[in-house]
Amino acid sequence: TQQYRITLLPGDGIGPEILAVTVEVLKVIGKQFEIQFDFQEALIGGAAIDETGEPLPEETLKCCRSCDAVLLAAIGGYKWDDLPRHQRPETGLLGLRAGLGLFANLRPATIFPQLIDASTLKREVVEGVDIMVVRELTGGIYFGLPKGIFETETGERRGVNTMAYTESEIDRIAKVAFEIARKRRNKLCSVDKANVLDVSQLWRDRVTKIAQDYPDVELSHLYVDNAAMQLIRAPKQFDTIVTGNLFGDILSDEAAMLTGSIGMLPSASLGADGPGVFEPVHGSAPDIAGQDKANPLAQVLSAAMMLRYGLNQPQAANKIEESVSQVLELGYRTGDIMSARMQQVGCRQMGEMLLKVLESGSILR
Ligand code: NAD
Ligand code: IPM
Ligand code: MN
Repeated sequence: TQQYRITLLPGDGIGPEILAVTVEVLKVIGKQFEIQFDFQEALIGGAAIDETGEPLPEETLKCCRSCDAVLLAAIGGYKWDDLPRHQRPETGLLGLRAGLGLFANLRPATIFPQLIDASTLKREVVEGVDIMVVRELTGGIYFGLPKGIFETETGERRGVNTMAYTESEIDRIAKVAFEIARKRRNKLCSVDKANVLDVSQLWRDRVTKIAQDYPDVELSHLYVDNAAMQLIRAPKQFDTIVTGNLFGDILSDEAAMLTGSIGMLPSASLGADGPGVFEPVHGSAPDIAGQDKANPLAQVLSAAMMLRYGLNQPQAANKIEESVSQVLELGYRTGDIMSARMQQVGCRQMGEMLLKVLESGSILR
């Protein structure tokens, strides 16, 4: 029996609801694949602020570092929006990513065929979409210095952030992206704003340079404004996309809508070594928190990414993804992916259906 220590970070809003469903799924998977999960729960975000006064207590970081992988739900909410920057839930999440050196964020946008009618786009546009967004996660404008709100000589305030990348930061994320493209359809599109930004010019130069080591991968470049448009116009032209922190944040939410809902999009945040963090792309959805309305599937699929990328258990990962496909095949839908003639369920019931499918061991129809 394989044993893994997993840190669970439920966080805020719908976080605890979707994580509870996912833990039940993992327990069943553990039995089926002879994997023993040793779960440790820790505080992050608003929940941590309420308990300890800070969004990322040292104890949480320590717990994560001692584990094999971290399963994070989501952080944030209205209650903490007016706190000073260093005390905000989001700062805790950024601190976790930086603290664990998680520079590569993999955000796959793959449409389940059962959800084509849930997309706001036409069937022929989204059918077969399979994109991997590789987002740089510990640099760029999120972390560049100087930053802050400063007073100018004339006495008004000036808000500042700095978009900066060093060559080594660009090189390492480019390599990750080329390696991933190589295992997919050998196409990589780098997204930047090199027509205006110096930081983007360096980005483009370095990605082009790294491409020399990957002659089998076809590299293209797009400006981010055009990329945003192309993603909706003809998403199937994309295989792997690599981009900086801010552009990747925005484009991955956009790509979510190709798959029907942001409630379907998982992610993996990886570093050079140490545990990865596996987290949905969406946030804490305060507008539906506590109402049993959340779609738990992005979180469940994040657990599958944990098994695949963090624990090297690809078969268990496949099994989770198949069970998601099967509940969709059976017609169960949370509100965000609801369409005609389907059966609407809440977060908990979606979880129960997943367990049923997993335990039945065969495809129910
Ligand atoms: P959000 O992703 O939380 O919600 C956007 C919209 O999508 C909302 O209408 C929400 O109800 C819906 N939605 C999101 N996830 C869903 C799910 N699983 N099922 C059904 N519907 C879902 O983004 P927001 O409203 O801009 O941000 C809310 C809070 O979350 C903010 O505090 C923000 O900073 C934080 N946030 C956290 C993370 C994270 O923890 N990784 C990511 C994004 C935003
Ligand atoms: C995400 C979120 C975070 C980000 C916020 C909450 C810090 O939007 O994970 O996509 O911008 O990276
Ligand atoms: Mn985001």
